[in-house]
Parts: sequence; C-alpha cells; structure tokens
Amino acid sequence: MPELSDVIELTAEHVKGVLAGDSSGHDWWHIERVRRNALLIGRHEGADCVIVELAALLHDIADWKFHGGDDSAGPRAAREWLQQHQVDSVIISAVCDIISRVSFKGAGVSTEMPTLEGKCVQDGDRLDAIGAVGIARAFAFGGHFGRAMYDPEVPPTMHDSFAAYKSKGGPTINHFYEKLLLLKERMQTETGRTLALQRHQFMEQFLQEFFHEWNANELPSART
Ligand code: ADP
Ligand code: NI
Repeated sequence: MPELSDVIELTAEHVKGVLAGDSSGHDWWHIERVRRNALLIGRHEGADCVIVELAALLHDIADWKFHGGDDSAGPRAAREWLQQHQVDSVIISAVCDIISRVSFKGAGVSTEMPTLEGKCVQDGDRLDAIGAVGIARAFAFGGHFGRAMYDPEVPPTMHDSFAAYKSKGGPTINHFYEKLLLLKERMQTETGRTLALQRHQFMEQFLQEFFHEWNANELPSART
C-alpha cells in the first residue's frame, strides 16, 4: 500500500494537471491556497490533517459548476482516484463526504458539515472566496461565463434552493450580496471566523469604492 504522504503528492500533481489552464478562479493556485488555509485551520483546531489535505486537494476536481450542475461528479472522481491508490476506505468515505457537502448552495439553503475536517476544508475554501483574492476570483468567474460586471437594473436574489442557485446567471456584483458577504457569518470554526474578518472588511471597502466610482456624483474634494 502506498504511503499516504506519497498519495498526497501524487494527488497534488494529478489535480494540477486536471485544472491546468482554468481561467475561472478554479485553477491549481486556488486549490493550493485552500490546502494551506485548510491545513492552517486544521492544525489550530486539532483535525486529522491527512483527511483535510486530501479533501482540500480534491474538493474542486469535478465541480458541478463545470459539469452541467451534476454535484455527484466531484465525489465520484475523488473516490475513483483514491481507490486507484489503495487509500483506506474510511479515509475515502470521509474525503468524499466532505467534497459532496463543501459547496455553497444558496443564501437561503442550510448546508450541514458534520465533521471537524469538513469544517476546516469548507472554511479554507470560503476564505479563498472573500477578500482581495475572492474579488479577483469573482470577476474572473464572471468573465469566464460571460456575465455582466454589474447591472443596476438586475437586483440580487436570495436563492432558497440549490436548483435556483445553480441556474442563476446574474451580474458578478450581485454575487457579493448573494454569497460572498454572507460567508463571514457562516464560517464553521473559530480560526476560520477570525481569518475571515479582515477579508470581509476589504470587500465592504471595495464595494463602497465601486459604487462611489460608478455613480461619479461627487467631486474628490467633497469626499471624506
Ligand atoms: P463553492 O463550491 O462554495 O461555490 P468554489 O471553490 O467552487 O466554492 O468557488 C466559488 C467561487 O466561484 C466564488 O467564490 C466566486 O469567486 C466564483 N463564482 C461562483 N459563482 C459565481 C457567480 N455567479 N458570479 C461570480 N463569481 C462566481
Ligand atoms: Ni474551491
């Protein structure tokens, strides 16, 4: 049976290959940042870091957003990969369960993440959705899928089902109100909550500046 540390390295190489060339904010470096965030949180919280690292590495291996909305594709691809490397079935189940639950599913949809390892991965993923990197990823995603940057005539929607959230196609600025600004309150660990604060504030500041520029109704001297 291969050493788990070898499987982790092989998994990282595999994911790098699968996500090469992505321009939607789901590239290898997103995975690497989530891996680091999740491990940082996992060490602070006393989680099983093998499960945390494997789930972080595989969490977007076949995301529903790129597989016609099929949310079973990710856990299935992860299971196949881990089985090929003879990983213990208990670890495989834990990792695949995390992958099946990790995604945000709409403002009004409650999602359960029962394990500590899952909470660490979800917080790690959500940290990468907010702050400066989160802003950059949101506009990369919007551009990739041909979304408007902002349209004042299209209000945000608080989706109350995963199906409605999946089928949305609104402007990127709406995504801040539909998801990104809500994440601070939905962090699952103390460590994650602490790390989210500064990133959240930066997004608030960004939006204030964005609307200030958009409306262009004040002279610079009239500000402050
Ligand atoms: P999740 O599985 O929770 O959606 P991901 O790792 O797949 O997390 O990343 C989601 C990121 O993709 C968002 O944080 C955002 O940057 C981008 N994204 C997803 N949907 C949209 C959207 N409608 N508009 C802009 N960005 C989006
Ligand atoms: Ni992700």
